[in-house]
Amino acid sequence: MENSDSIVTPWEVRGEVDYKELIEKFGVDPLTPDIVERLRRHAGGLHVLLRRGMFFSHRELNEWIDSYEKGVKAVLYTGRGPSGNTHLGHLIPWLFTKYLQDAFKCDLYFQITDDEKFLFNPELSTDQVAEYAKENILDIIAVGFDPERTKIFTNLTYSKPLYNMAVRVAKHVTFSTAKATFGFSESSNIGMIFFPAMQAAPCFIHQYLTSEDAHVLIPCAIDQEPYWRISRDVAPKLGYRKPAGVYSKFIPGLGSGGKMSASIPDTAIFLSDTREEAVRKVKNAFTGGQPTIREQKEKGGNPDVCVVYSYLYSLFDEDDKAVAETYASCKAGGLICGECKERLARKVAEFLEDHRARRERAKGSVEKFLLRE
Ligand code: TRP
Repeated sequence: MENSDSIVTPWEVRGEVDYKELIEKFGVDPLTPDIVERLRRHAGGLHVLLRRGMFFSHRELNEWIDSYEKGVKAVLYTGRGPSGNTHLGHLIPWLFTKYLQDAFKCDLYFQITDDEKFLFNPELSTDQVAEYAKENILDIIAVGFDPERTKIFTNLTYSKPLYNMAVRVAKHVTFSTAKATFGFSESSNIGMIFFPAMQAAPCFIHQYLTSEDAHVLIPCAIDQEPYWRISRDVAPKLGYRKPAGVYSKFIPGLGSGGKMSASIPDTAIFLSDTREEAVRKVKNAFTGGQPTIREQKEKGGNPDVCVVYSYLYSLFDEDDKAVAETYASCKAGGLICGECKERLARKVAEFLEDHRARRERAKGSVEKFLLRE
């Protein structure tokens, strides 16, 4: 999807994203209060990412919940491209996937696209993507997925079943569709052109492995949507249900404008950042504050453009009342930016510390999660 000031594709997200417009361009549906209520009933509560609108759109989520209620096997599928260290932005769909897994007691297939990152990034070798995959998998396990129900696999090490499924998908996708959907050109390498079939394959892998009927739901960031368009077109041709999807926004970078991006390290909080690094990044973040404390007190700040507020709102402050108070108080000039930065830095640092402890523990359970041929 491209317009004058923003681009959203599976490989590039740039500029100020207009999510309302994306819903129309991608032909997905907004996550309405009635669906959110259905999720709440099943989960016994609402994840902060739902309450605050980070997950904002979907495709056939109602149908997926219908299937679950009727006793059809409900399965989750998500993934990670191992092109670097994990940052907070990557974590958003994973945290939400865990919430769904706990609520619906689902099997989860977690794809690591080492092949994709090797093929699409001229700088990355197979050894490097393997190393990132290993590191990323620890972050994934640290999120707390159910070891009995979670299957993590990399495309280059679990190739046989995936390739078997991918060729079935690929037979129904023309080059012209792939070009129109992903923008491939004559100079794209041929691995890139086949790759969408590899990302579509896990939509059907549970059915392939178990011969069981299943309804798959994919929680992910909205930029991955083009893959599911292809998967959904092909599904009935292979005799499977179309995968449903639930899509998140991007967490903004710490600077002004743009999403959190691993290629601009100061805009991103990496899960591997030390406490000092994380605190420094938060302290340098873009805010909606006035240039001086006096002006801030007189005119108030602008939480609507403030990155610090948006982190508190989207993820780090689960207390609805506290968040509303922060908003009002900032606008009224009752808060200065340093106070909010202090609060966010503390929350981020605590989160990172907990994550690191869980990541250490994850080292002992990798084998339990990994699918091997
Ligand atoms: N292509 C995704 C990325 O670059 C990785 C991925 C594979 C994925 N399968 C997925 C992401 C399913 C979300 C859902 O990060």
